[in-house]
Amino acid sequence: MDKLLIRGGRALTGQVTLSGAKNAALPELCAALLTADPVTLLNMPKLRDVTTMLALIRHMGVEVNHPQDGSVLLCASDLNNPEAPYELVKTMRASVLALGPLLARFGVARVSLPGGCAIGSRPVDQHIKGLAAMGAEIVVEHGDMVARLSAGRSRLVGARIATDMVTVTGTENFLMAAALADGETILENAAQEPEIHDLAEMLIQMGANIEGHGTSRIRIVGVEKLHGCTHHIVADRIEAGTFLCAVAATGGDVLVRHGRMEHMEAVVEKLRDAGVTITAVEGGIRVQSKGAATLKAQSFRTTEYPGFPTDMQAQYMALNCVAQGTSKVTETIFENRFMHVNELVRLGAHIQIDGKIALVEGVQQLSGATVMATDLRASASLVIAALVADGQTQVDRIYHLDRGYDQMETKLGALGANIERVHS
Ligand code: UD1
Repeated sequence: MDKLLIRGGRALTGQVTLSGAKNAALPELCAALLTADPVTLLNMPKLRDVTTMLALIRHMGVEVNHPQDGSVLLCASDLNNPEAPYELVKTMRASVLALGPLLARFGVARVSLPGGCAIGSRPVDQHIKGLAAMGAEIVVEHGDMVARLSAGRSRLVGARIATDMVTVTGTENFLMAAALADGETILENAAQEPEIHDLAEMLIQMGANIEGHGTSRIRIVGVEKLHGCTHHIVADRIEAGTFLCAVAATGGDVLVRHGRMEHMEAVVEKLRDAGVTITAVEGGIRVQSKGAATLKAQSFRTTEYPGFPTDMQAQYMALNCVAQGTSKVTETIFENRFMHVNELVRLGAHIQIDGKIALVEGVQQLSGATVMATDLRASASLVIAALVADGQTQVDRIYHLDRGYDQMETKLGALGANIERVHS
């Protein structure tokens, strides 16, 4: 298993280019299931989750061409196996995104139920409820969700779907299903993430009729058929936020190329309140910091977009660990998303957890140690902490990091970090 060796204490300077967003790439790969025509996705990030999703759709019979230039060419004209098996689903919960498109185009799907996940139980009840409202019958058999159209139907039908909570992949499943359903679908309480907007734009390019994406109410009028398209995947705002936190902590001056301020206002606001200088410049976002010791720790609470993203909680907490003062970090989206805390404590952080709240007391210096990555964003928080810790930190189990960050160590190395991947 690969590990990272990081020697802290260096400021970060220069330019870093963001990759395409993982959370847009995954649904957009599934959107290719909606048409028999070729689909080209540009700006595909090199991630383990992307490799898993490609394996999944290949398994279904999708023809995949993945040249080295960041494009992926897909053709689902001969799909013969509308199934997502457990071996693939268990490593990536986003496999559930195949359910909506398969049902919409083929009227059948068999998708393994995602098992327990490190950051919480993460059920899929809302996906099932919404697709059932559109005329699907979904039963659980041998650990799989087995879905088909209810008797007498040849297509899904439009429906009004109001989910009990805001769900990102749920909204995406409904968008894709509704694009080919008969009639109008209204999604109330829809997720508003930029990745949803990007997916909807791709579907519109394919011929879908969608309005209101990017708001909490989306209207879709189904069409008979969708056609192929070429779509450029939006830049990864979570990768951007991770670099902003890293530079804030280490000090330095970095241009985050392709970063879009409007996608990350909640994080930018907290960083500015802390004392970091962040400016929108041509081509991206510039971040300047004199280092964590000059920054004021910030309390925050994770909420759905446009609030503070749960996917940035761990990275910002790493910054709070070395900033001035005490902060309160409240996680409201996932019930078990503080697994980085024990590892940060191993590096000398002062954190106490009380249910959904972590109380962080800033310390002057962290000290390098061996730590273990426990999930994707937790890994990134350990990397940030290691970049400011005294001495060497070894981050084990970085396969979690590779799920969602495209060559993070290469990008940080180019900014001046002392970081090395060790294969073992
Ligand atoms: C997506 C993102 C993930 C991010 C999360 C929240 C992708 C591939 N992943 O995950 O990076 O952390 O949004 O921003 O885009 N819930 C239910 N029942 C359901 C669906 C969700 O109870 O059927 C709950 C979840 O357990 C969680 C909350 O709703 O507490 C939000 O989850 P959701 O938005 O669905 O997360 P994902 O789409 O899995």
